[in-house]
Amino acid sequence: MRRCLLLAAGLALAAGVVRAQPSEPTRGAELLAPFKRDLQAALGQGLAQGTVEAIRTCQLRAPAIAQARSVDGVRLGRASHRLRNPANAAPEWVAPILDAYVADPSDRAPRTVSLPERRSGYVEPILLQPACLTCHGETLAPDVAARIEQLYPEDRAVGFRVGDLRGVFWVEFPTER
Ligand code: HEC
Repeated sequence: MRRCLLLAAGLALAAGVVRAQPSEPTRGAELLAPFKRDLQAALGQGLAQGTVEAIRTCQLRAPAIAQARSVDGVRLGRASHRLRNPANAAPEWVAPILDAYVADPSDRAPRTVSLPERRSGYVEPILLQPACLTCHGETLAPDVAARIEQLYPEDRAVGFRVGDLRGVFWVEFPTER
């Protein structure tokens, strides 16, 4: 009986240890959260100066924010099938997942994948919200369109509607188990 209790306690402990370690999707989402927060804050600060100014703010700040959050073996960013900044092209392991989201609009579930060298990858879709239309929508104000054209001559990131797939957030990190 005593052995049985001990065994039960041991199992409970083991279960606790397993639970305490976040699963890979949770870890991915956790790593993306501050990145999203920083981007949102930068956009908000830019928009306080007006939409045209905010375009420049995004150009300057978005890559720096991704860089700053890519530390300790973590690498993260945004990608899209219709890019504004060509430097945001999907990493090799992200591209097929992005393609799958594009091919099947009913599939919007985040993905977790195993990568070489004991690393994990996590990807989640970005859907267009009403607040994004000023810079990614079907009709842009002439001064906004002109500024985008000037800063991003190869821009393909306009013409979206609310709910459309705009792209993905991705993150890769050392696997914990
Ligand atoms: C003030 C204009 C503006 C608004 C509003 C805006 N964006 Fe952007 N967006 C930009 C600019 C400029 C870039 C390019 C940033 C860079 O150079 O990395 C960009 C890049 C992106 C990218 C990276 C992929 C790419 O095409 O380069 C995604 C994804 C994105 N925006 C999604 C959104 C979403 C979702 C919203 C609404 C929540 C939004 N944006 C609102 C201007 C804007």
